[in-house]
Parts: sequence; structure tokens; C-alpha cells
Amino acid sequence: MNALSIENLTRNYYKDKLTIAAVSGLNASFNEGTMTVIHGSSGSGKTTLLLMLGGMMQPSSGSVKFNGRDLYSMKGRELRHFRNRHVGFIFQKFYLLPYLTVRQNITLPLHIGENVRDNTELLHSLLERFRMSHRLNHLPGELSVGEQQRVALIRALIKDPALILADEPTGNLDPENLEIVSEALQEEAGKGRIVILVTHHASLFATGKTAFRLENGCFSDLR
Ligand SMILES: Nc1ncnc2c1ncn2[C@@H]1O[C@H](COP(=O)(O)OP(=O)(O)OP(=O)(O)O)[C@@H](O)[C@H]1O
Ligand SMILES: [Mg+2]
Repeated sequence: MNALSIENLTRNYYKDKLTIAAVSGLNASFNEGTMTVIHGSSGSGKTTLLLMLGGMMQPSSGSVKFNGRDLYSMKGRELRHFRNRHVGFIFQKFYLLPYLTVRQNITLPLHIGENVRDNTELLHSLLERFRMSHRLNHLPGELSVGEQQRVALIRALIKDPALILADEPTGNLDPENLEIVSEALQEEAGKGRIVILVTHHASLFATGKTAFRLENGCFSDLR
């Protein structure tokens, strides 16, 4: 059974003579088959937390454990393998490559790492599910912002990851697409994945099994 846990997780940024306590002493565990929602005002530490959960940012102190193993005690190669194999990350800023088509952007993760493979069946089912089948050959710059957001989501799901970390994945979607994406994330959790959703959308707070509110880097309440 896959599980992710954090203990005393802390991250400070240092800028000029300022110390910014972005995330301070968080404790939580996230189990497979569940979706957790994290919300909080702008600057409360949500992206910083997600990056640490995904093995992309070294904490200042504390730990992130996947199946009991501390991510940041791993060697570079092993940590890369963890990200590659297990993490589907939907970035708040999408990070689509502007010179690659929708199809190339989505399938790029399949060509990174040891097991280069294709998954045409999953690709087409995801494209259909998120209503993007008609835009396969477009460049990101030729898409609406909500379409770019859905491409970023499909790219995160194409590797069938155990852990889905979604940073405000509905920020630019109309109500209908918001519904599609929110249902899809709940469905992914239902398939046995660990889903962690960061969102400002109050309507989504109740969709997770648990909701955490972040305030100045600390959890302020728990539902
Ligand atoms: N690289 C950095 N260097 C210095 N300070 C940073 C850096 N990245 C983030 N911060 C600061 O850390 C705090 C937390 O940032 P973070 O991006 O995690 O917030 P957030 O909750 O995701 O906000 P938003 O809802 O606007 O996306 C903010 O005050 C931000 O200004
Ligand atoms: Mg953010």
C-alpha cells in the first residue's frame, strides 16, 4: 500500500537579509485511494509544500517519506527514478514546452528515464476525457489557457503515477471543465492513487477525504 508522509516539514527561503518561513513544521500522512485538498491564501506555502512532496525541493528540515523511505536521503539517481516512476505533477504555471505539439508535450514523460514506452491507448482515452482530441497538433501558444491547463493535466497522468500532485489545476477552467477535472482527480484517487489537490476553489474543498488549510506555512485547521 503506497503512502506518503511528512514529519516536521519546514522550508525557509533566504532573500537578501530576509528569512521567509514558507512552510513550518508540517505533519501529515496521505494514503493511497484518497484525495486531500490543500487550500490557503496566496503566499501561504502551497506550491512550496507540493514541490517538496514531489521530490523537487529539498526541505530545510524535516522529512518526506514515500513508503517509509525518506526522499531526500536518496542519491540523485534514485530520487530521479522516484520522480519519473511515481510522480505526476501539474504545475501551477503548466511548463509546457512551447516548440513541441500537444501530442509531443504529453508523451514526453514516456521518453524520459529507463523504460521508454508508448501508451497510445491511455493517451487517447485521456484526450477524450479532457476534451483535447481535436488539438493534438497544436503548439501550446495556439491553445486557450484552459486548454493548456488540461494538456498539463494529461501529461501528468500519462505515466500512470502513484502520486498525483496538482497545483491549482482548475484555475483557468470554466464550470463544465472544472467539474470534469475535479471528477477525474477523484476518480484517480478511487483507482488507488494518492491525490493531493491545491485549489482556491471553495466548491472543491469538500471533494477530498481531508482538507488542510495553510496559513503562513502552518496547517490551521483540519476537516
Ligand atoms: N524562490 C523563492 N525565494 C524567496 N521567496 C520565495 C521563493 N519562492 C516562494 N517564496 C515565498 O515563499 C512564500 C510561499 O510561496 P508559495 O509559492 O509556496 O505560495 P503559494 O501558497 O503557492 O501561493 P499562490 O497561491 O500565490 O500560488 C511566499 O511568501 C513567496 O513569496
Ligand atoms: Mg502556488
